[in-house]
Amino acid sequence: MTASPPLPSPTIPKRFIQDLPTPGWPPIQRDVAGGRDPATIRRMNLNESPFPPSPGAIAAMQEAVTRVNYYPDPKWRDLTAALSAQTGHPQDQIVMGCGSDELIVSVGRFCLSPDDEVVVGNPSFGSYNKAAQVNGAKVVAVPVRQDGACDVQGMAEAVTARTRLVFLATPNNPTGGMLSSEDVVRLAKALPDDVLLVLDEAYYEYGIHAGGDDHLKAVAAARNGPWVSFRTFSKAYGLAGMRVGYGLSNSVELADTFQKMRSVFNVNAVAQAGALAALGDRDHMLSILERTRIERERIAAGLIRLGCEPYPSVGNFLAAKTPKPAGAVVEAMLADHGVLIGRLMVPGFEDYIRITTATSDDTDALLTGLAAVLA
Ligand SMILES: Cc1ncc(COP(=O)(O)O)c(C=O)c1O
Repeated sequence: MTASPPLPSPTIPKRFIQDLPTPGWPPIQRDVAGGRDPATIRRMNLNESPFPPSPGAIAAMQEAVTRVNYYPDPKWRDLTAALSAQTGHPQDQIVMGCGSDELIVSVGRFCLSPDDEVVVGNPSFGSYNKAAQVNGAKVVAVPVRQDGACDVQGMAEAVTARTRLVFLATPNNPTGGMLSSEDVVRLAKALPDDVLLVLDEAYYEYGIHAGGDDHLKAVAAARNGPWVSFRTFSKAYGLAGMRVGYGLSNSVELADTFQKMRSVFNVNAVAQAGALAALGDRDHMLSILERTRIERERIAAGLIRLGCEPYPSVGNFLAAKTPKPAGAVVEAMLADHGVLIGRLMVPGFEDYIRITTATSDDTDALLTGLAAVLA
């Protein structure tokens, strides 16, 4: 074996980038899936929708494919016009991303310098760490409340003169708790004007379906400093593979800053067409939200019956403490039952699994498998 060539320079890439993990994971092989064809495994680990997107979105994407010899609209005009009409947010303050993940990483690039601080919930979405680490900034993680929602009081208290960015996920992934507008406004008011508040609303539609507040107007009225809400077509709209997310920012200047950072054609033409058509099929989305609620409640009840302690989630996922080590539970669920679930890779949460809701058939298989694994 030959040794890897040395890096061209001790400073390229920057030290804190050398230390980052490479994203992604290897494909599942038959041997860890009990000899099953990996294509038959039930995917209940990535908070994806198990349901295809709206038929109208599929037709729009098929049509758009025939014209991909042309570049997409670099200003996503049709999509931002439709989002503006739906949300009441000014069109020139809306930015699109290749998934909301692109926006999360981008916000770190224009806010953070080495040794700055970023306040996040604990546990919360892993990309916030990346947004901080690629810029050499420090993550200050504040434990979530018992109901799995972010602790706005604790997060406000964690802010120092070095804080530049706060990621507030509601509903929070992986715990699934959501905040009232009163809570969000408390943090929005407490943050200094030189801190950017990111409201991560990737699961916004699920929160509204569960009777939660719509925070936009309340935050707009309460906060003088900069803020942005990130949402996505990956979850309730079932378009995770298309990679479309958006940011509703509080000023044209902030929206323009995102624009300056991005690659010019960051959302491809098929994705733009699919997202636009998906927005127009509200009934399809509502039926997915309702099916998700039913399966989430079945899974939560089953987990409690089996001696687990789930957080009271409103999302398309549940995190739960298990009576057996989570790593072994995840492995056995895959090997013995062909069900892929996740676990929380966060210090202090070693005993927690995370399950994405899927079809009712998947819930049956999940609960049968868990009963055997936890017996
Ligand atoms: C809280 C949260 N934010 C953002 C994302 C990123 O979603 P996407 O890049 O697919 O829009 C996810 C994905 O799981 C998430 O859970």
